[in-house]
Amino acid sequence: MTIYEIITKKKHNVELSTEEINWVVAGFTSGSIPDYQMSALLMAVCFCSLSDRETVDLTMAMARSGDMIKPETGGFNVDKHSTGGVGDKTTLIVAPIAAACGVFVPKMSGRGLGHTGGTIDKLESIPGFSTELPYEKFIENVRKIGLAVAGQTGSLVPADKKIYALRNATATVDSIPLICSSIMSKKLATGADGIVLDVKVGDGAFMKNTADAEKLAEAMVRVGRLAGRKCTAVLTNMEKPLGRAVGNSLEVIEAIEALKGNAPDDLREVSLALAAEMLFTAGKGTSEECFAMSEKAVSSGAALEKLREMIMLQGGDPAVIDDYGLFAQAEHTKEIFAAEDGFITGISCEATGMISLRLGAGRQTKESEIDPTAGIVFDKTVGDKVRKGDRLAVLYTSSDCDFEEISKDFGKVFSYGTKENCPKEKNVIKIIKGY
Ligand code: URA
Repeated sequence: MTIYEIITKKKHNVELSTEEINWVVAGFTSGSIPDYQMSALLMAVCFCSLSDRETVDLTMAMARSGDMIKPETGGFNVDKHSTGGVGDKTTLIVAPIAAACGVFVPKMSGRGLGHTGGTIDKLESIPGFSTELPYEKFIENVRKIGLAVAGQTGSLVPADKKIYALRNATATVDSIPLICSSIMSKKLATGADGIVLDVKVGDGAFMKNTADAEKLAEAMVRVGRLAGRKCTAVLTNMEKPLGRAVGNSLEVIEAIEALKGNAPDDLREVSLALAAEMLFTAGKGTSEECFAMSEKAVSSGAALEKLREMIMLQGGDPAVIDDYGLFAQAEHTKEIFAAEDGFITGISCEATGMISLRLGAGRQTKESEIDPTAGIVFDKTVGDKVRKGDRLAVLYTSSDCDFEEISKDFGKVFSYGTKENCPKEKNVIKIIKGY
């Protein structure tokens, strides 16, 4: 078996055997297959795709490339994963809801590159909060309160770390089987019994249209089923940023507000749909009952109390829940006003993400430091009528960035038109159950 032969087979759209896929993943992870040959193979996969069987084989080979853990929490463990979007703080909302309803959520999360940090960067904007939990403490916390969020350890799915870095550099990220194997290998390795996938659709997502998002969702739930996990995918709208806040502490504050019952409509709908699916996979009732339980966990304050307990157990200051002044405050703020009358017909996710990154909320390289105070809070959203001079948003930063230039570019985030031009997409597009 040689890598040259395997690349040639895939280039001619010939199915690879299980042995060949295992050999490639092991060889690339150990360093015996060089980047240039792996890049060629990944590009061939982008053009010729993978069969269902090959996708399952690739996912399993990647999952087994490092440790496979099985969190011994004594209950049914549910994980939730998003394919990524702008303003996506749903984990901070749905994990406490699910835990408040008796589901175990041992959540391992990454940092990653992007327009904001990942879930653990967001949580670390809470003074004192630590995501570096020893594994025994992580499990103990889940056993105690049903919930813990920790950073991933180095020994989980090393194949994905190497392959994803290469895909990022070689324009081979947007392949359905490659995205599926990357996400599902991590979910399988962290041992969840139930997996709820938030598959984002639209301008701000990998999947730009519903048909492609359905293909990805179906591929992921199929892999989940074949691996013996209960897996559901929820297709949700990412044509505009989710909720009103983009940033690290800004998103934590919006998540706390959501748990106090004050979420914007889109964030509320998406969060409740995901939380209800988490309860459903754990066998807590019918879809309707699980939805009602999720709503009640918010209205009763039980989910907010779960968040408070988690913050306490992970060394954070729970008083932030009642006093947002305890978060580090941005050194500079700038209000942005509407330049014309009209209806907001769009808020570009891509442009919002770029502005957020320039303000310092995200990482451009793995070594970049995040500014936890940086980001954007929108006053207006798609469909709103605005008059010239109305405040549209506030920008925040403590970084040494060109605030004036960024504020000028921020105008490009919005598009204006008439009421009839305003899109009316659903926030929750479709639910695909894999079991
Ligand atoms: N998220 C991942 O973890 N992997 C991908 O390939 C895309 C999104």
